[in-house]
Parts: sequence; C-alpha cells; structure tokens
Amino acid sequence: MKEDVISILKENNGSYVSGQYLSIRLNVSRTAIWKYIKSLKESGYIIESSSKKGYRIISSPDLLTSDEIKPHLITKYLGHEIIHFDTLDSTNNKAKDIASKVGANGTVITSEEQVSGKGRLGRQWVSPKYKGIWMSYILRPHIEPIHVPKITHIAAAAVVAGLSKLNINAFIKWPNDIIVNGKKICGILTEMSGEINCIDYVVVGIGINANLETIDIPTDIIDKASSLLIETGKLIERKILAAEVINSFEELYEKFLNSGSIKDSIEICRKNSILLGKEIRIINRQHEETAIAADISDEGELIAEFSDGTKRKIISGEVSIRGLKGYI
Ligand code: BTN
Repeated sequence: MKEDVISILKENNGSYVSGQYLSIRLNVSRTAIWKYIKSLKESGYIIESSSKKGYRIISSPDLLTSDEIKPHLITKYLGHEIIHFDTLDSTNNKAKDIASKVGANGTVITSEEQVSGKGRLGRQWVSPKYKGIWMSYILRPHIEPIHVPKITHIAAAAVVAGLSKLNINAFIKWPNDIIVNGKKICGILTEMSGEINCIDYVVVGIGINANLETIDIPTDIIDKASSLLIETGKLIERKILAAEVINSFEELYEKFLNSGSIKDSIEICRKNSILLGKEIRIINRQHEETAIAADISDEGELIAEFSDGTKRKIISGEVSIRGLKGYI
C-alpha cells in the first residue's frame, strides 16, 4: 500500500495530491493515508504536507525498491517484478526459496542488507545496510545445465557495462570478480536447481560494494576488497546502478538465449580482463600451477599457456586463479 501511495505522489510530479483523493483511490481511510505518509517519511522520502492541499513529494531516497529502480528500467521482463526487503539473510537464499515455489522468470530480489551474505566457496559476503547493491535474479532458461556457468560471464559483463554508464572503468578477474583500481568491488554467485539435463531455475546473485567506507570492510580482506565510493571518491546512486546492471544483463542474456552464444559478453570480458597477458597461479585443490592467461574462449573458458608452450582450457568453477604477486 505504501508503494501505491508513492506511485500516486510520483505520478503527480511534485504537485499536491489531497488526502481525500488518495483515500478514495486506494480505498482506505485518511488516517491510514497519514500513517503511510509518516512511514514513507521515516524511510527517507521527503514529502511536504499541507492541511489544505494534501501531500507532495519533494525527493526520493536511494533505496533498492521496485518504485525506485523500475522507472530506470528499459527491460522486457527482468525486474518487472522486484521483491524488496529491508533485511535478509541472503538474496540468493530468498530467490531460491521463491523460485522453488512460484517465482517467475525475471523476478529480482533486492535487500538493503544481508546478515548472512554468501560468497563463492562457502565464504561470507559482508553486506552492510544501505551501502551496497545486494540483488539476485530468478531465471528459467531452456538450456542444458552445462551452459549455466556462461550466465556468470554474462553477469560480469553486465556489471562492467552498467558501471561504464556511470563513467566507472572496471575490470574482470575471470570469471566473476569485478575490480576497480586493483581491488574487488563486486562478486557474482550463480546457483542452480534442476536435474541432469533440465534446469528448474538459475539464481544469479550480484553484490556490488557501492558506498561502503573503509570501516565497513573486514580488516583481513582490506588489501583485496574495496568499494566504488572508496575507489572513485563518488557517492553512488545505488538505484541507478542497479537499474543499469539489470538493463545490461537482460540485453546480453537475451542475445545468449537467442543465438546460443555469449560472444558479446565475452568480448566485454576480454576487453576488460585484468588477467590476460599476466602470469597466474591456477589452484585446484592441493595442486598449483603457473601459467600465462593467454585468452578467454568464446565459450568462456580461460586459456592458460604453460612454459612448455602447451595451452589448456580452464573451466570456471574448477579452479581458483591468483596473480603471481598477490591477488591479481
Ligand atoms: C563472490 O565473489 O564470492 C560472490 C559474492 C556474491 C555476493 C552476492 S550479494 C547478493 C547475492 N546474495 C548472496 O548471498 N550472495 C550474492
């Protein structure tokens, strides 16, 4: 209902809307309208109230709600349903829960904070309130499960494309870390449910450290992790960046579904790769090898070239890649 009040105030573009009009249109009492307005003001909306004229919206907060993100979307279906939470354990967990029931293809789950945000390999993902973009997409592609890792490359390319709309130049550490000034500012966690040859759903979780301050970053990862605010000095409008990433993702994902190829995403991954041409360590359980990151194939495998000149394709998820000197 609060969402409906905000939509009507926004429809009127800063002009006054009477309490009576709101109460008739929404079929609730004027006292109820007053309570919704009070609660909206508490969540950061600046709304002017006049006993004679009613209410008018002055400004909206930077929230990851449907009301704040949707006006910036140009998608056909992704984000048409945005389910927003103030707090969650993990948007990926919530998305999986919703997907296992009725969650439609293209539904986006957002949260202002995650108290048990999940990273890859069972790691924790620190997700403080109002400071980042914590979102997960529910997808139901008709593809074979073997192709699901390609969706991570699409997401990485979409984040880089979204950041470029804000004039931020970002790099990809194959396959799923987004890097600015040599530090990780975003991670992607793709999960799926299905059977050997049939997918029920895929959940793509994207965590962007937008406005975290140094104090928000755990000390044990401070040399590797950062935020867009720290690296660029600019406060990020989270709703705009979230919308840009959703827009870019749908465009690249649709190209994949229509053509079966992730060529366009891989082109972005290659152009913005932080690894290509560098010496890397390929870590596979206890086993470690050194190679040069020579290329990324059109299918998304990393092509490693070894000192004897041989080349091998590395599949994401199989290994962990480190730069020879530290993180990159
Ligand atoms: C990684 O780099 O290890 C992946 C991090 C993924 C974090 C995002 S935040 C939104 C979504 N929900 C989660 O619990 N994890 C992903």
